[in-house]
Amino acid sequence: MSDEYVLPRKATPDSPLRLAVMISGGGSGLRALLKYQQEADRAHVTTVVIADSESAGGLKHAMDAGVESFSVTLPQGLKGDERRRAHEEQIIGIIESKDIELIVLSGYMRILTPFFVSRWKGRLVNIHPSLLPDFPGAHAQRDALEARVRVSGCTVHFVDEGVDSGPIIEQREVPVLESDTIDTLRDRIKQAEHDLYPKVLDDISSGRVLL
Ligand code: GRF
Repeated sequence: MSDEYVLPRKATPDSPLRLAVMISGGGSGLRALLKYQQEADRAHVTTVVIADSESAGGLKHAMDAGVESFSVTLPQGLKGDERRRAHEEQIIGIIESKDIELIVLSGYMRILTPFFVSRWKGRLVNIHPSLLPDFPGAHAQRDALEARVRVSGCTVHFVDEGVDSGPIIEQREVPVLESDTIDTLRDRIKQAEHDLYPKVLDDISSGRVLL
């Protein structure tokens, strides 16, 4: 295992891993995770949800599940790196005050800086809607369709300082159909994501994922 990465402790349903889930949008992945955690005793629990926008639809899923949530918008009056740093410091403040043990990016659309990533390496995971290393970035489904691949899918990976480039934990394939549009492919991939991500979090929480 690389020295840089520190994995979370091995948790149990009696003492579940405390997760912060970070979102930007509708939060269908968050909703699926909260449902999974409510269905049975799991070795992880969503302690807090953090959005980078007050209008992130996923905040409602947190509220419905009785999970505390925060929207942390970019601070006004600052620019560039200073602004990003101040924003991330606010997020880190919340995460540390809640004793978070693993950060789960679930449709969080901002790129975290090395300042943030280096503190959380090994305890910071993301899900991406392609079979990485193919089609990183914000337009994975469009890029897969343009490349005319017949199979795409999703990837859960540890986050490093690059974009969608950290060590891959697990992937799930889905077919790409001739008739697919970006929307139909996105929906099919999301279905796979909603099944895969909670299970990978089980694996991480119970110590089955090694680097
Ligand atoms: C997912 O497809 C995820 O892979 C990507 O952003 C999307 C989030 O969707 N990073 P939702 O907000 O969970 O519905």
